[in-house]
Amino acid sequence: MVGGGGREHALAWRLSQSARVQTVFVAPGNGGTALDACGLKNLPVTQPEALADFAAAEKIALTVVGPEAPLAAGLVDLFRARGLPVFGPTKAAAQLESSKAFAKAFMQRHRIPTARHATFADAAEAHAHVQAHGAPIVIKADGLAAGKGVVVAMTAAEAHAAIDDMLGSNSLGVVHNDEGARVVIEEFMAGEEASFIVIADGQSVVPLATSQDHKRIGTGDTGPNTGGMGAYSPAPVVTPNVHARVMHEIIQPTLAGMAAEGLPFTGFLYAGLMIDAEGRPRTVEFNCRLGDPEAQPILMRLKSDLFEVLLHAAEGTLGRVELQWDRRCALGVVMASAGYPARPRTGDVITGLPADEADLKVFHAGTRLEDGRLVTSGGRVLCATALGESVRMAQTRALAAVRAIHFEGAQWRPDIGHRALKH
Ligand code: AMP
Ligand code: GLY
Repeated sequence: MVGGGGREHALAWRLSQSARVQTVFVAPGNGGTALDACGLKNLPVTQPEALADFAAAEKIALTVVGPEAPLAAGLVDLFRARGLPVFGPTKAAAQLESSKAFAKAFMQRHRIPTARHATFADAAEAHAHVQAHGAPIVIKADGLAAGKGVVVAMTAAEAHAAIDDMLGSNSLGVVHNDEGARVVIEEFMAGEEASFIVIADGQSVVPLATSQDHKRIGTGDTGPNTGGMGAYSPAPVVTPNVHARVMHEIIQPTLAGMAAEGLPFTGFLYAGLMIDAEGRPRTVEFNCRLGDPEAQPILMRLKSDLFEVLLHAAEGTLGRVELQWDRRCALGVVMASAGYPARPRTGDVITGLPADEADLKVFHAGTRLEDGRLVTSGGRVLCATALGESVRMAQTRALAAVRAIHFEGAQWRPDIGHRALKH
């Protein structure tokens, strides 16, 4: 398991439960994967060549790549070139996430519903575009930005400021693509968002349970965007009719289009959706990986053997797979460190972690062991994830766990799941 966040803890935990899996090495892992008694082992390796050397030497049956950065850097290409079994998209296929400009042009070529857009490297032209179209309007940095390179500008002034930042000082720290700093300016889409994630083997695709993320730091969806402050599954906004439309209008054309362009997509494909009042789904973005924190509640509900499923996907035999889900709801509440998302503080001691139970698990993200103590080491620290007969029951259970846990300055939202509670 390559990665060290909450998503990777959840993936490693589920993989370790397969009867065919002895050990899951998590590289580099976190404090939770170090402590988890389910057969996980941290591996302090992040360099691509060193990871491949380890996989070869240990005859690792399958390497699963969690985060976008190693995918965009071509880790899967390296493993494939060395004949090592790996699950994830190639660098070229990962452009669906790593380049917003590529993704938008791809969707246009294949008539996949999304917001109208224009791409700019020149600030004066970008400003003129905002002047011509007015607000609300959406400004996105082209490149990897850990979910933070997007400004939904409700006023033209906000839009102009975002352009100056993204094409100038780059205070969000976006990792630019080869073309340099560019912005994508998009039409604002109204509606409700949902995360629609599938497993693809280049040709066939199996949808995972639906989910919904909460991107703003503050209760009631206020304040700046984060990597995600909590998620739950399933998302009631994805009705059976919406589900069918997403598969037919977005997922299948995307997989077919990638294959037709010589970039067959193997891996988790995540379509971030905007669903309007008429139930029409449009694509906000693609990610080439599982969502974080969506993975935590989704995997909490997965009953199938994840190792078998991902092996089929890596081998191109996903057509034989059908997934089994716990019919209960799962809900995860993220606990983030003081100062997140702008300047997360680290090094705070964490206490009060509850023991795992069948319907409760606290996944770790930004944690590490220091002299036998568990301390914070990143922005998003933990995700307390619970199963329940209803969204409310899962939420109550997750929040009880959160309230028992302590570290200085912890931030969390008590309203994860609020949209489902209204449906
Ligand atoms: P992204 O990183 O592209 O997923 O964008 C982050 C967030 O910005 C999304 O989850 C949406 O809440 C919002 N967003 C992005 N694009 C649009 C759009 N065209 N219209 C409305 N909201 C958007
Ligand atoms: N939770 C949103 C993401 O993983 O991009």
